[in-house]
Amino acid sequence: MKRITVETEKPYEIVIGKGILKQCGDAVKEQFPLGNAVIVTDDNVESLYGDTVRKSLEKAAIPHRTFVFANGEHAKNMDILRELLEFMARHQINRGDFIVALGGGVVGDLAGFAAAVYLRGIPYVQLPTTFLAAIDSSVGGKTAVNLDAGKNLAGAFHQPSLVWCDHDTLKTMDPVRFADGIAEAVKYAVLGDEDLFAQLRGGELRQHIEEIIATCVKIKRRLVLADEFDYGDRQFLNLGHTLGHAIEKHSDFEITHGHAVACGMVAIAEAATKNGLAEFDCKERIAEVLALYGLPTKSPYPLEELLPYVENDKKRSGETIRLVIPETVGKCRLLSLPVTKLKSFFQI
Ligand SMILES: NC(=O)c1ccc[n+]([C@@H]2O[C@H](COP(=O)([O-])OP(=O)(O)OC[C@H]3O[C@@H](n4cnc5c(N)ncnc54)[C@H](O)[C@@H]3O)[C@@H](O)[C@H]2O)c1
Ligand SMILES: [Zn+2]
Repeated sequence: MKRITVETEKPYEIVIGKGILKQCGDAVKEQFPLGNAVIVTDDNVESLYGDTVRKSLEKAAIPHRTFVFANGEHAKNMDILRELLEFMARHQINRGDFIVALGGGVVGDLAGFAAAVYLRGIPYVQLPTTFLAAIDSSVGGKTAVNLDAGKNLAGAFHQPSLVWCDHDTLKTMDPVRFADGIAEAVKYAVLGDEDLFAQLRGGELRQHIEEIIATCVKIKRRLVLADEFDYGDRQFLNLGHTLGHAIEKHSDFEITHGHAVACGMVAIAEAATKNGLAEFDCKERIAEVLALYGLPTKSPYPLEELLPYVENDKKRSGETIRLVIPETVGKCRLLSLPVTKLKSFFQI
């Protein structure tokens, strides 16, 4: 079992272990000795782990209710958010109570945002059950829902009170969805950890899952603590995401987040090399490790179809856009580029 503390204004712990879901009640009780829990989850995760969590809460004498919604990115919207808020109000959830987000990034983002806005903020706990949620979305306090105009356009910064990660839950994941998380792990390695890159290239991810989750979480912690509200260093986490988000949206989310980010990372590495900003083998090295896990390395759409989304990216400020440039595996830098130069930058 690994414990990692995130020293935000109100520090919280990330606990990573095997088979620890059934002990979540005691951990939660320590945080909230008196409150009621609202478990928020999707239908898949409910059928797999809902009972385990409820039993554990009952053992710790924590009163609870469960709110379940249909799984998938399309559920991360204002309608479901409203249903959840109304559900909590109907059940007279108050500021002494808390949310338990049980699931992947969709559950965590939606439940976290509900926690941020309900009664101007109640606490929440993350119980991540996907690899992506374990290494990325459950940490850092970004919460959001999507709007018709784009992903994550309504949201808030709201740090969890605890992240309780049982990596045994990852064993029931669909391998394609598991690979989504691998793309984010590769991202962390390219951002700043050559050893992690070597470990991923060695193909031994499953054997070292606990250690790899901890390594990724520590890289994210470093960037979040340097820049909690996303004005500087935290933007490194967007490596591969500028084109990635465009691919995801253009496919109407048929192409999942990590798969889109994998294409985005290879595209930016290729552009960086062609523009003389990256080592000659940077793109090949990244593509090779992604392909090892069955991740795509080439966008299915031509650049012209993606650029309109990039031009509307929420990371754009004024006439420039910030890109994360991999210089080599383990070292990246930020580059502000005029939006008018985007096409030639990628197509040189
Ligand atoms: N807040 C952040 O910092 C942050 C960071 C990265 C990504 N995100 C967001 O995270 C979301 C993607 O997260 P995700 O990939 O976890 O998607 P997800 O939550 O949709 O989960 C993927 C699928 O796996 C199922 N599932 C979850 N756990 C399972 C398990 N243990 N066994 C079997 N099936 C399981 C879910 O029901 C769902 O169908 C996106 O909306 C993205 O924008 C947020
Ligand atoms: Zn991502």
